[in-house]
Amino acid sequence: MGSCQCQGIENMFDEKTARRELKKYHKKGPVKTTRMLLDAVKKIGVKGMDFLDIGGGIGAIQNDLLNGGAVKGTNIDASKAYIEVAKEEANNNGFSVKVKFKHGDFTTIATDEDSADIVTLDKVICCYDDIYVLVELSSKLARKIYAVVYPRDVWWVKLALPIMNLYPKIKGSPFRVFIHPTKKVEEIIFNNGLKRAFYKTTFAWQIAVFMR
Ligand SMILES: C[S@@+](CC[C@H](N)C(=O)[O-])C[C@H]1O[C@@H](n2cnc3c(N)ncnc32)[C@H](O)[C@@H]1O
Repeated sequence: MGSCQCQGIENMFDEKTARRELKKYHKKGPVKTTRMLLDAVKKIGVKGMDFLDIGGGIGAIQNDLLNGGAVKGTNIDASKAYIEVAKEEANNNGFSVKVKFKHGDFTTIATDEDSADIVTLDKVICCYDDIYVLVELSSKLARKIYAVVYPRDVWWVKLALPIMNLYPKIKGSPFRVFIHPTKKVEEIIFNNGLKRAFYKTTFAWQIAVFMR
């Protein structure tokens, strides 16, 4: 990721946004697409497993996997504000010793030690320009399950892209959203020895779970 996109992430995913999202999460729970991903992963089974949540945001995935029987996990996030909120969330749920937090760009700070039974990227692929690096590296770290939510590469979502990128532009942020071709994303995942076990779409998003 260019340093510009990273600066943009700090700027877009700031404390105010994190707190607003947390409030919504406390009221309504995970959003629909996150719930779909979590249900699919838990159906496969998470008991006794560890996880790596890349771009974990306010910590919805960490909470749910640990409540579902996962034993521990790591959350790597490029936003300092989101890491702080996810840490708080872990403490408040009694998970402080079960989750390790790493702040920074996953593609530059992840090591083999971050490999996990379950690797999740919920609405993170769309934050990254070079998917070859992001998807290649993250799918390699998945020992059993690789679960992702990312935008569909259909015309109506592509049409909305300039609108999605208008807000960061107005805010003066270098952050941009990307819509990557599904075929290209899946090719990288398949080449890393994973097979698709679950696939569903909503109007704008695709939820896909792969297994080794
Ligand atoms: C759209 S938010 C999604 C947050 C959460 N997964 C959810 O679905 O609510 C994208 C998250 O990914 C993080 N992120 C984006 N690119 C990243 C990267 N290269 N390394 C680590 N975190 C990244 C952002 O900081 C942000 O927390």
